[in-house]
Amino acid sequence: MIRICLISGDGVGKEVITAAAEVLAALGLGLEFVETHAGFEHFKQSGDAIPDATLSTVEACGVALFGATSSPSIKVEGYRSPILAMRKAFDLYANLRPVQSLPGKFSRPNLDLLIVRENTEGLYAGHERLEGDTAIAERVITRKGSTRIAKMAFEQARRKSVVSGQSSVVTVVHKANVLKVTDGLFRESALQMAKDYPEITVKEMLVDAMAMRLVRDPENFDVIVTTNLFGDILSDEASALIGGLGVAPSANVGEKAAVFEPVHGSAPNIAGQGVANPIGAILSAAMLLDHIGQGAQADRVRQAVNATIEQSVLPRDLGGKTNTQQMTRTIIGNL
Ligand code: NAI
Ligand code: MG
Repeated sequence: MIRICLISGDGVGKEVITAAAEVLAALGLGLEFVETHAGFEHFKQSGDAIPDATLSTVEACGVALFGATSSPSIKVEGYRSPILAMRKAFDLYANLRPVQSLPGKFSRPNLDLLIVRENTEGLYAGHERLEGDTAIAERVITRKGSTRIAKMAFEQARRKSVVSGQSSVVTVVHKANVLKVTDGLFRESALQMAKDYPEITVKEMLVDAMAMRLVRDPENFDVIVTTNLFGDILSDEASALIGGLGVAPSANVGEKAAVFEPVHGSAPNIAGQGVANPIGAILSAAMLLDHIGQGAQADRVRQAVNATIEQSVLPRDLGGKTNTQQMTRTIIGNL
């Protein structure tokens, strides 16, 4: 029996996780869902944004589907970001963000790239301080962190080569010309790892040039590996190539657990209206299926999403009028 922890969180998180769980249930695999809580609403009720019970449930299940949570932009005493807490608790060091063309006018064609973002260090290490009127954030890069994310990228590239029958290219993205010490170490670690993968071509690119190339010729990229903040920004940028945040899936992967989530946040501007696009969450569920060895079922889900788009059944953010529930029903009908 495969158990999947569900954490809907705040805002549209509830709407899209319900949709994704319905799609998973419709596969008839006998999956068991365990619902748990986290988020700003939960914090306001209980004083805890992510209770230990939630973390224990994620650990027990090994896989979780996470919606989104709202984070206040100012410091709120006692609040911690649930997704950052999970990344830390389970050392979810790899953030995988695939960007694959969808069969609609809103998506660029011929894209099949994967952004592999380091998920635990860099500027997100949380080492910030104020010295008088000077605010300082430490950018932490370790050899261990850089080596393991590079290994993940090359492993993913190897997998992609097997599926596509073509040799994959890994592009190491950094800013080592300016950040000579931190990104210098990241770059050196990644190029060192490349030696273990002679069949994979390795290239490197400065992050500013990469941002431009993602707009100009994204179809020429395959696997991109980069540090935490650069990966965060580039992957949001890349999601615009295939229709925006509403369709972009992601995985946070570690040795002990994996948490799958749409790239978007809680979207308070549309929450509660029933119009959220469930595709990002549903494609995240497909990544979960891949992770638990159900690749054929994952393909079934992706094909059902594509078929739905081909029928021009589209939610508001993709230029259509179909609500979340009807989108979900159509996708299930196409399974
Ligand atoms: P957002 O991703 O929530 O929304 C950005 C834009 O995309 C909005 O116009 C929204 O309506 C649209 N959008 C997002 N998801 C959509 C969906 N499923 N269907 C259709 N349209 C969708 O980002 P924003 O507005 O910057 O942040 C809102 C809140 O979410 C903040 O509190 C932020 O901290 C939180 N957030 C949480 C994340 C997480 O839990 N992993 C990630 C990003 C933001
Ligand atoms: Mg982001």
